[in-house]
Amino acid sequence: MRMPRSRKRNRDRKKHAAAVTAGPAGKWIDGLSDVSIAGDPLAFPHLARTDLPAHPTTIGGYAQLVREIAADRARWEPLVRYDALTRWYARLETGPGYEVWLLSWLPGQSSGFHDHGRSAGVMTVVQGELTERSLTGEGEATRTLAPGGQRVYSAGYLHEVVNAALEPAVSVHLYTPGLVEMNHYAQDRERSVTADR
Ligand SMILES: [Fe+2]
Repeated sequence: MRMPRSRKRNRDRKKHAAAVTAGPAGKWIDGLSDVSIAGDPLAFPHLARTDLPAHPTTIGGYAQLVREIAADRARWEPLVRYDALTRWYARLETGPGYEVWLLSWLPGQSSGFHDHGRSAGVMTVVQGELTERSLTGEGEATRTLAPGGQRVYSAGYLHEVVNAALEPAVSVHLYTPGLVEMNHYAQDRERSVTADR
């Protein structure tokens, strides 16, 4: 006498499942889930990718990525290109929320004073020497960056980078989020900086 009761329970469960998952027009009425959108991942584990690259998500992780790229000379050296008219940019890598660029600098080439919009950044010199002048609430500071020298800055950071040496230079720059805005500033004779957009 147990069997009929068991069959009734199963019937009820199926009825209930139909009611909460599909409306009169066959539309979902109780929201969506990973399983309803993409199917049950346990049903095809052999299709799940395990080779996805790990992307950095912190400033420390971005600084580490820049160090790794800088150490991989074969990766950036073919993209070095010196242009007498302008610094040369080559995109090395993009990831979720960041971009990495290689910049080639001839002696005398300069970025001018600029900020990076809402992007934070990491830069390092991989060849030659660059001079950075920064302007913060604590005043102006000048640094010389040799290969391995790294700068990390947040959004709104104001600086100028120049190749003040006699040899060409190469640097790697990471921006997060990717750089979509650079505001340039002019400097008057008293060395105060004004917006020049
Ligand atoms: Fe910059």
